[in-house]
Amino acid sequence: MAIDKNFVDQFIKVTSKAALSSSYLVGKKDKIAADKAAVDSMRSELNKMNIQGKIVIGEGELDEAPMLFIGEKVGNKNGPELDIAVDPLEGTNFAANNLPGALSVIAISEKNNLLNAPETYMEKISTRVTEKNVIDLDFSVKKNISNLSDYLNKNPENITACILDRPRHTKIIDELKQLKVKLKLISDGDVSGALLVTENRHNVDIFLGIGGGPEGVLAASALDAFNCKFQGRFLFKTDEDIKRAKKMGIIDLNKKYDLKEIVRGDSIFCATGITSGDLVGGVEIKDGKFITETLVTHKNSAINILKKEVAITWLILTFAIKDLTLVPSSIG
Ligand code: FBP
Repeated sequence: MAIDKNFVDQFIKVTSKAALSSSYLVGKKDKIAADKAAVDSMRSELNKMNIQGKIVIGEGELDEAPMLFIGEKVGNKNGPELDIAVDPLEGTNFAANNLPGALSVIAISEKNNLLNAPETYMEKISTRVTEKNVIDLDFSVKKNISNLSDYLNKNPENITACILDRPRHTKIIDELKQLKVKLKLISDGDVSGALLVTENRHNVDIFLGIGGGPEGVLAASALDAFNCKFQGRFLFKTDEDIKRAKKMGIIDLNKKYDLKEIVRGDSIFCATGITSGDLVGGVEIKDGKFITETLVTHKNSAINILKKEVAITWLILTFAIKDLTLVPSSIG
């Protein structure tokens, strides 16, 4: 089964409108308000769609998030049953401080096909290399880099590794430095970080390190459409984290998830830029129109595209949202 291709444009609209709503609050030093604007808009757009959607990754549990909470039903109850993972504002610091890289993100699969990730950390790795036993979450940094170097026929000096700049990564960063690997240290935004391996033009060969679990699932759905590799393993700090994970159906707490265990079957992924970053451009106003840029993948269409021998597996779509005034509350 596949998700109807016609939904692709509709989901682009969902993240575009969320990005636009949030863009009014860029640089206002208020990440909560910027997030709320994106959440409100995304929820309102999803509820207009002919879908029976269930939020599997959202703003938190019902008691902590009144909108787009885990388990919330969205859509007008007509149409296919879909699992929906949302991050209406990925990179709250970027938006609040007017820095590059804030995104509005959504991933959609058919019912029961997306891993329900608890709000906890995840150890992750992504790369373009999909062959077995070249890159693996269980290998040491040294082994992964040495294998990648052999596989790509590139010296470690010419390999670039992307990782969140966090004290918890000091050891990995030191090891990468010793191996003479080029670092791309990101201050936030590891959905984008994980996706930089998808295209040569980003000059990133491997993404690794610990970031948010929900962000890992979102990135995995796009990586699947790019035929890249992703592995993740949840990390739990507190008993409360473990309780929540068990409630969500996670039995083996130490399980290493391969991409296909995170996203099964067809999926759609959209990431619209709020502020311009490595992946997509931010919201622009041109000739009185709002222009948004969205990275969109649709697993099944990509397979069709490959069949037609079009060498593009993903598209940057630029489109104008017309007839909107500059008042955020009028959107939607
Ligand atoms: P927010 O948009 O929720 O602020 O998340 C930004 C982010 O950088 C994610 O991309 C990443 O997965 C996570 O935070 C890392 O968490 P931490 O800041 O605790 O290291």
